[in-house]
Amino acid sequence: MKLSNLARNMGASAIRAMYNEALNMTDTISFTVGEPDFVTPRIIIDEAVEAWQRGLTHYTPNAGIQELRKAIAEYHKDDLNPNYQNEILVSCGAMESLQLALLTLVDPGDEVILVTPAWANYFGHIAMSGAVMKEVRVTEETEFIPTVDQMRKAITPKTKLVMINSPCNPTGAVIDSETSKGLAELFVEHDLFVISDEIYNRLVYDGLKYTSITSFPGMRERTVYISGFSKMFAMTGWRLGYSIARPDIIQAMTKLHENSASCLPEPTQLAGARALKSCQSDVDRMRDIYEKRRNLIFDLVNDMPGVKVTKPKGAFYLFVNIKDTGMKSSEFCMDLLRKTGVVTVPGTGFGDAGEGYIRLTYATSDENIIEGMGRMKQYLVNRMS
Ligand SMILES: Cc1ncc(COP(=O)(O)O)c(C=O)c1O
Repeated sequence: MKLSNLARNMGASAIRAMYNEALNMTDTISFTVGEPDFVTPRIIIDEAVEAWQRGLTHYTPNAGIQELRKAIAEYHKDDLNPNYQNEILVSCGAMESLQLALLTLVDPGDEVILVTPAWANYFGHIAMSGAVMKEVRVTEETEFIPTVDQMRKAITPKTKLVMINSPCNPTGAVIDSETSKGLAELFVEHDLFVISDEIYNRLVYDGLKYTSITSFPGMRERTVYISGFSKMFAMTGWRLGYSIARPDIIQAMTKLHENSASCLPEPTQLAGARALKSCQSDVDRMRDIYEKRRNLIFDLVNDMPGVKVTKPKGAFYLFVNIKDTGMKSSEFCMDLLRKTGVVTVPGTGFGDAGEGYIRLTYATSDENIIEGMGRMKQYLVNRMS
């Protein structure tokens, strides 16, 4: 008896491979996992604890409790302005929203355009939907932003949907509003659905004004907007995310959700509502810290021989070009780890387009950044001399 093709062919995460190797070592410094190093703000934790103690331990409505959906609607009243009753679905992280959106919008054999290098789990999500992935490979020359022309060339009569992630994991790229406008026009022209994963949209730097692709004419009705609490409020372990889309899409996604995660715990959802209502200053505080860390790590990496990096405008990642070292990404990461204890992720963990790069996250302390980048510099000095 054989396991399914899907199960047998699902790739293992590159982060996991580095993590497993690092487990056998001491004195490691990790730049791998994309999660805030902050603890969730206290007021959010207190809200949940109090709710558990009140005995709120039952099933909840599939689409999410009203209090949270109302808070999400209020939070988005100036951009998407969703109706809390039928345009919002609360999901088990943004992760589940992404999977449900794909399963709702595409059939096996449909083509889905993915901008790569891309967050590793998108590859799994597309594989689980049975759709055919069409890559649009972005490069440093355009600061890892897809051009309208590139996107146009990838569209065929079978294209059903495009996945957009801005700010981007792993490159930190933020699609500028001019490009977003051009992409929006193209998607309308070809009548395509869009999944816009904007989970990092509160983490943009240099005073940049973030523009969502949903803000352009004709986009609101063809887009599933996905976000969540993990990155914004340092709530990765709470598993809380959401989708905003037109009612028929949300209704279909909710049916699928009923057959998978089903619903989220009430205390978690109340905590999410509290976060949206009361914790914007915490988001700003963490954002400012990430920006300082980005500047720190960017300067340190730029001072190393054999590597170069484009300054990312958002999220908390640096996508470092290691091509001058002459090594493959995975070889570089493994050698760096074994010789220095610095744990990084090979760019190929984000698709073949990531060859020649490594990803570093700066969601870690200044001390770790200074020590880790010091070790990496020494490694490169030895290698390049
Ligand atoms: C681009 C992107 N989307 C979605 C997620 C998943 O977020 P969540 O924790 O809400 O499932 C991540 C997590 O790393 C991410 O980087």
